[in-house]
Amino acid sequence: MSVLDLARAELRGIRPYVPGAYEPGMIRLNANESPWRSLGDTSERGLNVYPPPRPTVLQVKLADYYGIEQKQILVTRGSSEAIDVLIRGFCTAGKDKILICPPTFDMYRLYASIQNAGIVRVPLLAERDFALDVDGILKALDANTKIVFICSPNNPTGQSMARADIERICSETAGRALVVIDEAYHEYASGGHYLDLRNRYEHVVLLRTLSKFVSLAGVRCGLIVGAPELIEFAQVVLPPYTFPTPSIELVQETLSQDSLRVSEERVATIKRERERLASALRDVPCVVKVFSSDANFIMVKTRNGQEFRETARRAGILVRTFEDPLLADCVRITIGRPADNDQLLKAVSGVERTSHA
Ligand SMILES: Cc1ncc(COP(=O)(O)O)c(C=O)c1O
Repeated sequence: MSVLDLARAELRGIRPYVPGAYEPGMIRLNANESPWRSLGDTSERGLNVYPPPRPTVLQVKLADYYGIEQKQILVTRGSSEAIDVLIRGFCTAGKDKILICPPTFDMYRLYASIQNAGIVRVPLLAERDFALDVDGILKALDANTKIVFICSPNNPTGQSMARADIERICSETAGRALVVIDEAYHEYASGGHYLDLRNRYEHVVLLRTLSKFVSLAGVRCGLIVGAPELIEFAQVVLPPYTFPTPSIELVQETLSQDSLRVSEERVATIKRERERLASALRDVPCVVKVFSSDANFIMVKTRNGQEFRETARRAGILVRTFEDPLLADCVRITIGRPADNDQLLKAVSGVERTSHA
């Protein structure tokens, strides 16, 4: 059985768009572009010409950085677009479903709703520090459940899911559903990643993003890591020319050795600050619980979430609260620079603390 047997049948035979060829050094009268650059266009390629249909140069660099074969990667506009592409590719509107484990990243729900796909919810086990309910997930699957989304480390709760749980889900869903493991925060985690599962199972897909650890949320660059035939199929769903030239050139710079070294140092700082903030928040009287985190944020349960948020706001800091009853009075705090974290601690505890950073 091929993983594409799970995909929307009517998409499997679609003929992809054939873009006009781009050959450096040739006069380009084949794509109805302007022959002149606009004023202020300092890009290397020139913004008067279309970007390449796919940012192949980035796919080569990212494949090298992550140690993955290039044919297993598709670059998307943020991993958000990757979620959309997978749902549109695998869920027939009004018939198929995705399975999610709330509280989790809300975009899975949003894109499923846009596609008119059903949403099966198997909540994380709050009493077990938001672990996966593996039996519940396996029981809830049926022939129309096409994608199981697992977010690890999970947003907004922060924990990595237990590897044994993910392995069991992957082994028991083979041939039944895609398992999409969203690794948006894996660079901040102490445990490993799931590339080995991706390589072992055709139906396992990973999502990665450059929005967090290399500081490029504004550029919108993410990727799908999947079996080569799934990547080929995803290219039918994702139209050509979606990734703009300035983004390509910027990401290329960010993937230089010097830039990556800085990003890695920053990740180390965020991890140190996460532990410092967590430990200080445990002493704050209005904080009931500080959840463990493997991400660049911490979730805390407070006596009164709104009050906590407003106290932070009066000190010039925005933090996130939630409407989900599972997260009543919980607040998600992104780890900032040491001075930002000091300011938050001072605001919510009234006690001055300094990071000495
Ligand atoms: C778990 C998770 N996945 C995916 C994303 C989307 O990231 P982006 O579209 O910026 O790559 C986010 C953003 O916060 C996230 O928290």
